[in-house]
Amino acid sequence: MKPFLQYNPTRLYFGKDKIKELAGELHYGVKVLVVYGGGSIKRNGVYDAVITELKKVNAEVHELSGVEPNPRLTTVEKGSAICKKEGIDFLLAVGGGSVIDCTKAIAAGAHYEGSAWDLITQKEPIESALPFGTVLTLAATGSEMNSVSVITNWETKEKLGWGSPHVFPTFSVLDPTYTFSVPENHTVYGIVDSMSHALEHYFHRTSNTQMIDGFIESLLRTAIQTGPKLLSDLESYDHRETMMYISTTAFNGTLSNGTDGGDWATHRIEHAVSAVYDIPHGGGLAILFPNWLEHVLEEDPSRVKQLAVNVLGVSSEGKSDYEVAVEGARALRTFWNSLGAPSRLADYEIDDAEFESMVEKTFIKPGVGTYKELDRESVRDILKRSL
Ligand code: NZQ
Ligand code: ZN
Repeated sequence: MKPFLQYNPTRLYFGKDKIKELAGELHYGVKVLVVYGGGSIKRNGVYDAVITELKKVNAEVHELSGVEPNPRLTTVEKGSAICKKEGIDFLLAVGGGSVIDCTKAIAAGAHYEGSAWDLITQKEPIESALPFGTVLTLAATGSEMNSVSVITNWETKEKLGWGSPHVFPTFSVLDPTYTFSVPENHTVYGIVDSMSHALEHYFHRTSNTQMIDGFIESLLRTAIQTGPKLLSDLESYDHRETMMYISTTAFNGTLSNGTDGGDWATHRIEHAVSAVYDIPHGGGLAILFPNWLEHVLEEDPSRVKQLAVNVLGVSSEGKSDYEVAVEGARALRTFWNSLGAPSRLADYEIDDAEFESMVEKTFIKPGVGTYKELDRESVRDILKRSL
């Protein structure tokens, strides 16, 4: 194992009716900017529950609605401008990963005079940010308990991940009933995204990591058992709470304890694809991840074999490591397809016309992949396999 620091300051309120803790997190008369998306929270009652709590502390409530899935820089700038103009004390993100990511960028942008893009591209350091909390409505990204955000600049067609210790949520409320209304397709994308985060942590090159490897394998097996049950009963509290706990744990730092952090090349490629085509993040991952597995196992099948046997139920009897690994990659694709996730770029009517642009966007930041460092030809290969 590698020496490590375990640090995560987000207070997590997990369970039914935990929204009742919200008022206790805020001071009387606080000026709050409530940030949300296209209106799902108004339809499922979450908005009303939040406002009821805010009234208890006589909060001065301002709102920014309409945060897009794959949130855009223009919306971030709108939010930061409101914070500066109104002297906002605290931000409250109510939604999925897009709303939370947008809120993180607003929080940093509110303490900076120029464009938030300077901070996202690391042209300027992030020295502070407004504090914020989250009320999660979609189990997928883990953004509710990490310091990562992904923002799209639609003018330059760049989708960039960034992070800062200043943008950990101070608290997050996770009530599984708030995810009952998530439609089937987004439920599937959430399962795929959470599993991808766990898988990317799994592909590290650190030795003596039995504990964390076993933890990741258990998380993945639980997702595989729970996913189909949840899809046949979208309002099951038990299955929603299991998936919610999985998605938060898959990307809150826990899974990188003692390792080199894993290999996030698939996320880099997916962000490049969705910067050009604006497809759902989980849909892009479902297409790309099995092809990344097939690409890396050509050189070294050992880790994919371990995944195949320990997680995907592939028998290794009488087979070479390579054969087992190939079966494993196929089994993962088959599982995600069985949930209803796409398996080919063609499912989103994407052909090879923009491949070169996607390859370049993958390398906006240098260094793609650690388990296997990818060059441009490797990314091209993974995209071709994904057609
Ligand atoms: O906008 P509304 O009306 O709220 O509808 C949303 C949106 O259309 C809907 N939704 C959310 N909660 C709902 C609901 N519909 C009904 N009932 C509910 N309870 O779901 C749609 C998708 O929401 P979105 O927030 O975009 O999904 P997700 O949570 O998957 O977030 C995706 C974004 O997060 C980034 C992705 O790249 C993408 O931009 N990521 C962020 C990460 C992070 N911060 O750590 C890591 C991830 O790898 C990912 O890259
Ligand atoms: Zn993701």
